[in-house]
Amino acid sequence: MCGIVGYIGNKQATPIVMDGLKRLEYRGYDSAGIAVHNIGEPIKFLKNAGRVAKLESEVNKSVPLGTVAIGHTRWATHGVPNDINAHPHTDCTGKIFIVHNGIIENYIPIKNELMASGHKFSSDTDTEVLAHLIESLFRGTLEDAIAQALARVRGTYALAVISEGDPQKIVAARNSSPLLIGIGDGETLLASDPSAVIAATKKVIFIEDGEMATLTSEGFRIKDLGGEDLVKRLVEIPWTLEEAEKSGHPHFMHKEIFEGPEVIQNTMRGRVMADQGLVKLGGLEDIAKRLSETNRIILTGMGTAYHAALIGEYLFEELAGVPCEVEYAAEFRYRNPILNDRSHTVLIAVSQSGETADTLAAVREAKRRNVLTMGIVNVVGSSVARETDAGIYNHAGPEIAVASTKAFLSQLIVLNMLAVFMGRMRNLEVSRAKELLNELITIPEKINQILAQEQFFAQLANWLKDAEHIFFLGRKYNFPVALEGALKLKEVSYLHAEGYNAAEMKHGPIALIDSSFPTIAIVPQDSVYEKTISNLEEIKARGGPILAIATEGDEHILKVADTAIFIPKVLEPLSPILTTVPLHLLAYHTAVARGCDVDKPRNLAKSVTVE
Ligand code: M6R
Repeated sequence: MCGIVGYIGNKQATPIVMDGLKRLEYRGYDSAGIAVHNIGEPIKFLKNAGRVAKLESEVNKSVPLGTVAIGHTRWATHGVPNDINAHPHTDCTGKIFIVHNGIIENYIPIKNELMASGHKFSSDTDTEVLAHLIESLFRGTLEDAIAQALARVRGTYALAVISEGDPQKIVAARNSSPLLIGIGDGETLLASDPSAVIAATKKVIFIEDGEMATLTSEGFRIKDLGGEDLVKRLVEIPWTLEEAEKSGHPHFMHKEIFEGPEVIQNTMRGRVMADQGLVKLGGLEDIAKRLSETNRIILTGMGTAYHAALIGEYLFEELAGVPCEVEYAAEFRYRNPILNDRSHTVLIAVSQSGETADTLAAVREAKRRNVLTMGIVNVVGSSVARETDAGIYNHAGPEIAVASTKAFLSQLIVLNMLAVFMGRMRNLEVSRAKELLNELITIPEKINQILAQEQFFAQLANWLKDAEHIFFLGRKYNFPVALEGALKLKEVSYLHAEGYNAAEMKHGPIALIDSSFPTIAIVPQDSVYEKTISNLEEIKARGGPILAIATEGDEHILKVADTAIFIPKVLEPLSPILTTVPLHLLAYHTAVARGCDVDKPRNLAKSVTVE
């Protein structure tokens, strides 16, 4: 996601911060900026949408001098990626500069209040609110103003602030967004990611939630937000630069699978009011009336996004009671779809990148035919996000591995939220909505329980790696999960895998089953459990080995399956979120066991921008 770099010391700060920004590029971003303070002079800043290289060429025209600087790479969440929305942001006086990662959830009421008292805003970002809030509270000591400002905001942040009124320091604070201090010789660095400081120092202090740090060229001081000094432990980072970019994970795919719980929290943040059985989706306010009158949903996407859409079909029909169909975007555009009741139809495009050519073409086709369009998109300001009438962002952070993992989980969360949102406009009972949303909140912890079994998945992968062909089977909500499990295994391990509805087996594919043909069966204790078990008995009877993804406490499953991965109990509409996690991790470990290039599988591109 966004990245922060800061420097204060006895060297020129600009080249060091620019170097740190370049090291953060791997995280994905859409804009970059820097603010530099030569003490006694006004703070200078440069920022732009686009690459760090563009910022660098501007910086090189006249390198800002100064020994204090903060820099940022932005991955847009509020406000499109453009020069003005890029960080750093400043206050009305242009004397306070801030860079921020995270989301300030209550920025709108604070912004309204500040505007009413005369503050002038220039960007659409939540971050600029902090600059003005700090300005309004500043009485000579930056830390005091920041502590008071943070007491008023809700949300997540890692931030760094410099000020002409209280120079010779960088003040940093954190809540749910990583931040660390690098300890050098006569210099102190700040970064959201160890990779940005590791070239200068491997000695770091991790700032924790609720802590505020003051960095000077001599060192640092950390206090809690109540003003109490804290003693912190110095940590020696053992990673190489490349390892640091992956936060110690061996591959981006591994890192992104393990980010699942955090991503889900970010996707739900500020949107789920479980105690009221309500979902708030700001991006849909303008079309809420049309959505309440919709009587046909067309979900579209490609690859993993298409699988999420397939699960969406079950959700919309069960929870919102709206007829729903799912179509590969590549088919929709050429099929000449019948769209008679255009004013009551919505096309929802699901896309991590928002740049998939077929998905974008489906959106354009729907628009051309006057159908309302919506996007469920991760990359802010991407083509699908721009061209749809309304949308919901995933807030999953940049997905770097070609194989989509965390974005898929986030898509399922959005689809669940949207189904409840539309359901509550219709007949979904508040008690059912509360039950689902309360369960949704528990999902991150349940995923952590699954991730804790990783060693077992690695052992299973050692067995799977020698299979030539593998079936993935599931029914109802978990039929699309079978397709997703097979796709993920194919793309990263190059094993031949096929996903089927378990009931479809006896209509043909079962002819392939023998003792060398393993089946991975997704069989949680849901409304089709017994049906799926019967389908598995047919495979067992033909000698096919079975690995089951089953609900913990299921005592029967090992009478049918040879082995099982157990997942926590969960309400049926939410089960795909949990059943997917072992399949992603199994695909990952199988690819590693087979020596494949996990993050960049052969023949594949992260974003397919051609037909
Ligand atoms: O960016 P999108 O979500 O639109 O991408 C769609 C597919 O290209 C993508 O999901 C692809 O199937 C992934 N490689 C799956 O892991």
